[in-house]
Amino acid sequence: MSITKICCIGAGYVGGPTMAVIAQKCPHIQVTVVDLNEERIAAWNDENVDNIPIYEPGLSDIVAEARGRNLFFSTNVEKAIDEAQIIFISVNTPTKTYGKGKGMAADLKYIELCARQIARIAKDNKIVVEKSTLPVRTAEAIKSILDNTGNGVQFQILSNPEFLAEGTAVTDLLNPDRILIGGDTSVEGQKAIQSLVDVYANWVPADKILTTNVWSSELSKLTANAFLAQRISSVNAMSELCEKTGADVNEVARAIGMDSRIGPKFLKASVGFGGSCFQKDILNLVYIAKSYGLNEVADYWEQVIIMNDHQKRRFSNKMVQTLYNTVADKKIAFLGWAFKKDTNDTRESAAIYIADDLINEQAQIAVYDPKVSSRKVLADLDYLETRTSEKNSANVTSFSDPYEACASAHAIAVLTEWDEFIAYDWQKIYDGMQKPAFVFDGRNILNRVALESIGFIYQGIGS
Ligand code: NAD
Ligand code: UGA
Repeated sequence: MSITKICCIGAGYVGGPTMAVIAQKCPHIQVTVVDLNEERIAAWNDENVDNIPIYEPGLSDIVAEARGRNLFFSTNVEKAIDEAQIIFISVNTPTKTYGKGKGMAADLKYIELCARQIARIAKDNKIVVEKSTLPVRTAEAIKSILDNTGNGVQFQILSNPEFLAEGTAVTDLLNPDRILIGGDTSVEGQKAIQSLVDVYANWVPADKILTTNVWSSELSKLTANAFLAQRISSVNAMSELCEKTGADVNEVARAIGMDSRIGPKFLKASVGFGGSCFQKDILNLVYIAKSYGLNEVADYWEQVIIMNDHQKRRFSNKMVQTLYNTVADKKIAFLGWAFKKDTNDTRESAAIYIADDLINEQAQIAVYDPKVSSRKVLADLDYLETRTSEKNSANVTSFSDPYEACASAHAIAVLTEWDEFIAYDWQKIYDGMQKPAFVFDGRNILNRVALESIGFIYQGIGS
């Protein structure tokens, strides 16, 4: 089938950038991204492309090129479903906060709502693509809903998980390591796979497009995230041992990364991984393993999360200990709030948990992040429900100028690896701070020797 109309349900961090790139690379295909969130869609349609709701390097240029030509953002979900030949589902699949599997399983209510809506509206055959990250065998449930509540039309379900990382979404989408498409082994299933392969083939070399059965594709996505997060927890575990033994985790990572079997990527010790997916996907993997009675498998992967929680807690404990066992009423400047550089996303950012711990110790937190608003910082803390929002507001202030955030602070915590932090005038920052002036570099990005020569007391991760 020659594809001319695609729709994507969910205009978030995956749906927005992915569809923008498909539209840019396939001008002959009309791509409509729909969402229930009117504010988000309005922001995607903002005349000034700098106001689109997601910050990703290079994204606004692509949106500027394709929007209004063959890329559209809309709240009219029904119309987009009705017209499309391929429907991507890119809605959120957060950890369940209620009922069976609470705190572990993926919450599939948004996925099911999409399936029911597609079934109700579709009047001709459709290919439905799971773009969201889903538990293995979710396609079975989607198919059952579509086939049993639909209008008698044929549906093919494909799994096409997204591997982009935030902050590098555009380059990841333009030059993916691979595109994974899982589908049914039937003739119809293979035809559907080919239709989607043809879309990606507009810019992705054929040898990078991998096709599998649906279950392999679904499980590969969880596996990839588990392996990536495992590397971070592994290096973070070694960082604690480094601190006790005089080894330097940066040197250890470099030494092991030169082994071609290990490789250099994803070995950066940190205050802990954040982001909307690693924790959620591993918890989901643990839940799936447990539900099959595979307790050893579940325990093995759960340790990645336990280590990550430990790393965050260890960082805040170390700050308090170093600051003479009290941070009460002390100003602590946070450089960075986003979960990594080059994104405005703060979901599960380590900064939130460090702030929460320090507020419990009655610290005054001053936040500077180049892309995160003060409203978002407070909303993230309120979401934890540790204390009232009045109390959070009383203890946390955001600044639009990093030098002001650091002025008269007792300590600075670097929590996101934004490049601009490295280029700051650290002498000026030092001069404005309380003495002794401490820097806790949760990303190991600053020059220790240079800071110590200014007079800072510097503590990195794992050295
Ligand atoms: P997101 O929260 O940014 O976006 C999801 C959007 O879906 C929201 O705007 C929400 O309003 C919308 N939505 C929910 N239900 C809807 C419905 N019934 N109809 C219309 N719109 C609806 O989430 P995200 O970060 O884009 O992640 C989406 C999925 O992709 C998740 O499964 C995630 O695990 C996966 N994923 C995310 C990333 C990432 O880097 N963020 C990378 C790979 C995969
Ligand atoms: C991750 C994966 O890298 C993507 O392939 C995947 O598509 C995505 O999850 C998803 O499924 O959502 P993302 O979370 O956007 O992408 O960003 P990463 O670059 O993986 O970083 C995750 C966290 O790990 C960040 O907090 C980052 O600072 C931290 N990290 C990363 C480290 O602490 N050390 C490292 O060496 C690498």
